[in-house]
Amino acid sequence: MSARSVEAAARGLPHTLYGVSLLHQGRVIGMGRIIGDGGCFFTVVDIAVAPQHQGRGLGKRIMTTLDAWLRANAPVSSVVSLVADGDARHLYAQYGFVESAPYAVNMEYRVGPASS
Ligand SMILES: CC(C)(COP(=O)(O)OP(=O)(O)OC[C@H]1O[C@@H](n2cnc3c(N)ncnc32)[C@H](O)[C@@H]1OP(=O)(O)O)[C@@H](O)C(=O)NCCC(=O)NCCS
Repeated sequence: MSARSVEAAARGLPHTLYGVSLLHQGRVIGMGRIIGDGGCFFTVVDIAVAPQHQGRGLGKRIMTTLDAWLRANAPVSSVVSLVADGDARHLYAQYGFVESAPYAVNMEYRVGPASS
């Protein structure tokens, strides 16, 4: 996961459809969010577990919670997508996600600072 600006986070987080945070001794050690239009498109983003807590089933716990929300709230014909970084695809495959390539590939660009 790459860093976001404070402005980007402050604008984006309130538009979360559904999100989970895992707390340990009062500190957030894991998170995951669903964003989208609430009808046609849902996107799973920001799945992360703190390095010292990885490999103990917490990523699955986050995904199981998001998956339950999607099953209750995503209407028939809607599309649920995500971008899997590296080997995290093995986690998402357990929740029904399949690779869309080669018929579709993720395309993106990142907004940089305005040049003057
Ligand atoms: C990806 C991430 C959230 C997984 O969290 P985690 O708590 O370590 O995962 P879990 O312990 O719940 O394991 C989840 C399952 O996915 C599999 N898995 C997770 N990461 C894997 C990896 N790197 N390679 C292979 N399998 C992996 C595990 O084997 C496990 O399946 P199993 O129980 O059937 O063996 C965590 O590694 C992370 O935060 N990584 C850095 C941020 C990141 O890359 N996020 C994903 C952005 S798309």
